[in-house]
Amino acid sequence: MNMPLQSGIGNTERKGGVLLGAILLSPLLLAILSGHTAADMAENRTAFNNHCRMCHSIKPGDNRLGPTMHGIFGAQAGRVAGYGGYSGGLSGLVWDEVTLDRFIADPASISPNTNMIYPPVKDPVERKKIINFLASLKS
Ligand code: HEC
Repeated sequence: MNMPLQSGIGNTERKGGVLLGAILLSPLLLAILSGHTAADMAENRTAFNNHCRMCHSIKPGDNRLGPTMHGIFGAQAGRVAGYGGYSGGLSGLVWDEVTLDRFIADPASISPNTNMIYPPVKDPVERKKIINFLASLKS
């Protein structure tokens, strides 16, 4: 007579344990799913450093050979204050995941006269890391 009752209690405890585990894990899972773990962020930064940092700073107002990347994600193209090196070929664009991906893969596909002459980033995974890094600079 007691057996079914005991196993019933056992089940409830197990379920409770799983539920508690899921609750404790969920912030970590969310961080992983949204791609914001510390390790990912470090990788994204490295990808930017490898391909872009020789010409682009991420500090506000720090324009080098290229304009600063601070706040570039979501911004109108060709509008960084104080930067004098624009080709004039980028206006009318907004920098989002799609336009950035095209530009980094092949700058001339966005503007044939662009001044951004560099070896394009062929690997889509590497481009995604760079774009995630640029998006993270806004917040
Ligand atoms: C050899 C130097 C150089 C490298 C390397 C370089 N850029 Fe540029 N970048 C420029 C120049 C110069 C411009 C201005 C282009 C123009 O006006 O046509 C520019 C413009 C841009 C713009 C448009 C800015 C605006 O205000 O609209 C973005 C976005 C950008 N670069 C992102 C990147 C990313 C991301 C990388 C790395 C994958 C990269 N660049 C690598 C020189 C460089």
